[in-house]
Amino acid sequence: MMSRLDSPAPSLEAAVEAWHGRGWPAPKALVVAGSGLAVDLGPPQVGPRALQEILPFPVHGIIGHAHAFEIVEPLSGVPIIYQRGRIHGYQGYDGHQVVFMVRLARLLGAQLLLMTNAAGGLDPAFKAGDLVMLSDHINLTGSNPLLGSLPPSWGVQFPGMEDAYDPALRSLLREKAESLGIRLQEGVYISVLGPSYETPAEVRAFRDMGAQLVGMSTVQEVIAAQHMGMRCLCMSLVSNLAAGVSPEPLHHEEVLQAGRQAAGDIRRLLEATLRDERVYS
Ligand code: HPA
Repeated sequence: MMSRLDSPAPSLEAAVEAWHGRGWPAPKALVVAGSGLAVDLGPPQVGPRALQEILPFPVHGIIGHAHAFEIVEPLSGVPIIYQRGRIHGYQGYDGHQVVFMVRLARLLGAQLLLMTNAAGGLDPAFKAGDLVMLSDHINLTGSNPLLGSLPPSWGVQFPGMEDAYDPALRSLLREKAESLGIRLQEGVYISVLGPSYETPAEVRAFRDMGAQLVGMSTVQEVIAAQHMGMRCLCMSLVSNLAAGVSPEPLHHEEVLQAGRQAAGDIRRLLEATLRDERVYS
C-alpha cells in the first residue's frame, strides 16, 4: 500500500503507456456506474476488461460491484471509458487509489466525468427509487485525493471547489430529463467513509449541515477531476431513506434492488446525455 507521501504519478504514467501500448483509443469521458446501477451503454469497442488489468494495486470485490471497464461509443466517433463498480475508501484504499481511473482518463484526454451512485435520502420528501442530480457536496470522508505531492502539471495545489458539478452540464441533464419525462431532483451529497451506515444522530446532523443525500463515494473522484480541470456531472439513485428518516432498518440487498428498478430511467438519461456533443466541449 502506498504511503501518503508516495507520488501517484509514476504508476499513472505507466498506465497511460500501457493503454497506448494496447492500441486503445483516447477517451473523451469517464463514466462510472455505482452499486447495482450498471446499465447497457451499447456494444463495447474494447472489453469488458477487469479493472485489475489497468490498476497497479489489487482490486477486491464486494457484493454488487463488478469492477470492470469497457470502451463504448454512445456517440459515434467519441470513445468513452465506462467503468462498472468503483474503488471505495471503505475497502481500505487511499485517496490516490480511489481516483486512479479519473486521473488516468484525464491524462488520456477525457474532459468529462459522469457518475452515478446509490445514496441514502436525508430529506423525508425523497422516496427510494428517486433520481437526484448533485448540485454540490460536503466531504466528510476525512480524506482527500490531493494529499501529498502531485505534479504541478496536473493542477494547482489548492483548487477551488465552486461549481464542481458543472452548471451547464446540470442544465443539460435537466433538459434531457424533462424531454424524457423522467423526474430528476437536485440536492447536496454528503460523503462519509463507511462502510457502516449512519446513526440517527449522524443523519440529523447531516440534515442540519444542508445535505439531502448521504453516500460513501463520489466526492474523492470529483475533487480529483476538478483539480485536473474536468467537468463533472453526477446523479444519485435514492436507494433507501437514511437511518431514522424511515422506520425500516437498512439492508444492502434493498440498495441493490432499488438500482435494478431505476435502471431503465438511468440508462435513458445517460444515453441521451452521452449522445449530446455539447457534453464533450
Ligand atoms: N448511507 C450511506 N451510503 C449509502 C446509503 C446510506 O443510507 N444508501 C446507499 N449508500
